[in-house]
Amino acid sequence: MSREILESGWEEMANRKPTLIQSYPMIGGDGPHSYLRNSSYQKAAIESVRVKTREAILAKLDLETPNSELSIYRIADFGCSIGSNTLDIVQNIIETLKLKHQQEETKGNNNEHLEFHVFFNDKPENDFNILFKTLPWYYLDSEVFACGVPCSFHYQLFPRNSIHIGHTSNTLLWLSRCPEDVCNRNSQAWNRNSIHCTNFIVEVARAYKKQFKKDMGAFVEARAQELVPGGLMIVLGLCLPDGVKMIRTWKGVVFDMIGDCLMDMAKSGIINEGKVESFNLPLYFPQFRELMEVIEQNGCFSIEIMEEVKHPMEDMSFSDDFIVSMFRAGIHGIIEGHFGSGVIDELFDRFAKKLNKEPIDFKDCQKDMQYFILLKRKVR
Ligand SMILES: C[S@@+](CC[C@H](N)C(=O)[O-])C[C@H]1O[C@@H](n2cnc3c(N)ncnc32)[C@H](O)[C@@H]1O
Repeated sequence: MSREILESGWEEMANRKPTLIQSYPMIGGDGPHSYLRNSSYQKAAIESVRVKTREAILAKLDLETPNSELSIYRIADFGCSIGSNTLDIVQNIIETLKLKHQQEETKGNNNEHLEFHVFFNDKPENDFNILFKTLPWYYLDSEVFACGVPCSFHYQLFPRNSIHIGHTSNTLLWLSRCPEDVCNRNSQAWNRNSIHCTNFIVEVARAYKKQFKKDMGAFVEARAQELVPGGLMIVLGLCLPDGVKMIRTWKGVVFDMIGDCLMDMAKSGIINEGKVESFNLPLYFPQFRELMEVIEQNGCFSIEIMEEVKHPMEDMSFSDDFIVSMFRAGIHGIIEGHFGSGVIDELFDRFAKKLNKEPIDFKDCQKDMQYFILLKRKVR
């Protein structure tokens, strides 16, 4: 990032930002629609790998400087949003590092006081204020030092060889931008009749996949620069089992319904039809093997664990309220960014009514897949 700024100057950089980086934060604050109050689905995912994360760090963290000699650990959570999920994650990592240190101490080495430098990263538009207002007491205990890193994680954010543990959860679905071609009426990949990548039209799927590979490639490369040799990158997220189409999953059905509601609003003259036709969600559920391909292509990490983990809510049928709140908290920013403020209440009222009239048959839908990945930075 800094090299680009030097070359083009701040002003030009700021002017280029809208096309360079698209931003769509989760709903901030602690109100009824906030991510804070509507992220129990993501929280359940994080909780489901709590023990696995702990075991992975104990078994696999293997730094060039022996763990027993290290007294400051640097931890980064990429795409942290506003908590409490990120706080739970960081707490689990810190407790595990303390345990690991204790275990090594008993082997006779160092008993120095441990300190943790924690970096909370998200886009600048994220509500960092609420995150920092809710930091637990032990952040004031001269043991954990926290700071916010407001920038896209598609860039290198830290000096080379500086981070011991990186973490990200529920983030890599978010593309840096919509693939241009799917919004372009002159392109074969124009996604006129849908607002997401259903995997139904080959050209559309290809355009989304290309953008995903570019973004995920940039993410992995940036982390490869930042992590110390032997450092760990933990990645938790959702993808599709190889061969499953998004349109067949319940989340795909939800996106289709929201698209239908937008089109109904256009037909009622509330929003412009052309705007609906050019609207696409900058979200992509990769196939499992696509994730693997990007990591292998980078080559800087050994894949220590890459597996499916059952999401605790995988077999549930969700209430209409739950679905509406979850999706509203997640895509509110994208909708407002494209259609302007003032359409959100109408859209989600219509969506709630539609769900009530046409309930989702969860049993009939194919499953998406939660994955857990543990990467270890190879020695350079
Ligand atoms: C669904 S939330 C997940 C939050 C948290 N990690 C969790 O598991 O609950 C996705 C977060 O990723 C952030 N995000 C998406 N793209 C990003 C990017 N390029 N750089 C930094 N953060 C990003 C969003 O702003 C949002 O806060």
